[in-house]
Amino acid sequence: MADSSASITIRRPDDWHLHLRDGAVMQGVLPFTARQFARAIVMPNLSPPIVRVVDALAYRGRIVAALPEGVELTPLMTAYLTDHSDADELAAGFADGVFTAAKLYPAHATTGSAHGVTDIRAIYPVLERMQAIGMPLLVHGEVTQPDIDIFDREAVFIERILRPLLSDLPGLKLVFEHITTAEAVAFVDGAGANVAATITPQHLHINRNAMLVGGIRPHAYCLPVAKREKHRLALRKAATSGSDRYFLGTDSAPHAVSAKESACGCAGIFNAPFALESYAAVFEEEGALDRLEGFASEHGPRFYGLPLNPGTITLERSDHDVPAVIDANGTPIVPFHAGETLRWRLR
Ligand code: NCD
Ligand code: ZN
Repeated sequence: MADSSASITIRRPDDWHLHLRDGAVMQGVLPFTARQFARAIVMPNLSPPIVRVVDALAYRGRIVAALPEGVELTPLMTAYLTDHSDADELAAGFADGVFTAAKLYPAHATTGSAHGVTDIRAIYPVLERMQAIGMPLLVHGEVTQPDIDIFDREAVFIERILRPLLSDLPGLKLVFEHITTAEAVAFVDGAGANVAATITPQHLHINRNAMLVGGIRPHAYCLPVAKREKHRLALRKAATSGSDRYFLGTDSAPHAVSAKESACGCAGIFNAPFALESYAAVFEEEGALDRLEGFASEHGPRFYGLPLNPGTITLERSDHDVPAVIDANGTPIVPFHAGETLRWRLR
């Protein structure tokens, strides 16, 4: 990494957790990711979800076709696990390089999870095969039982699901996605090298007050929901620690303004437009700008067993204002940090 007070140059990064959507909106949001990242793990929670190899191939084709002329991004596709997932289909897709990983959504945990897994034991044969072939399992780690408080759902998931799962399948390659709690950090720190976690910009910047103080603020609402300040501090420590078990995954999740500003607003924060700038602010505040490159560009590929990207990107110190709303090819979407001033800007 080259570092002067005015700019930082790092190896080109990747986004290990991204919602691109489909159709016109996808076309609108895609360039924001492509200007920063070389590759992105594309989430499969479309309606209907990406379950089969043919679905992923077609979706990948639509993404590549939607890239503007001269703009590059390699989409890494994921399979959406359901109670009926077929181990042979997943293994074939993984062997052919169509599926990079498979995503576990507990049924009804979040946006687009209605077809998710109702009981993890139902898919044990699939998970056993994934362990055997080294296919990563990406986990939305929240229980869905109505008696569990929404702020406790990640911590309870660790005890009820993750610990038993890794005790039964100790070699399973697992990414605990978008972690939000000190409990998740402790779990990842205590697990083997086959367990890693992604951390979003929003969970490094905001705690639950951002959603609830001074009025209800739907644009700060995502799942897993932001927690107390002590959890945010634990996440900042983990992300900037230099540990290769933590890497960048934005969970950028665009929803139209009208879907967010509603009596029942959707979960999801659209952070793609200034994701790197947002992470850079955190690393700078933590005195860890020298560790941004590992988190953004090295730990992810090493975990996935993929090559590091050639090429670099440069962030310059330059104040700029984040717009109140972004037009994603006809759909207005409020970006993360709307109305704020960011200190770093991608050259
Ligand atoms: C995501 C979405 O909108 O697809 N929403 C979110 O709040 N993060 C789904 C998810 O990753 O939970
Ligand atoms: Zn997500």
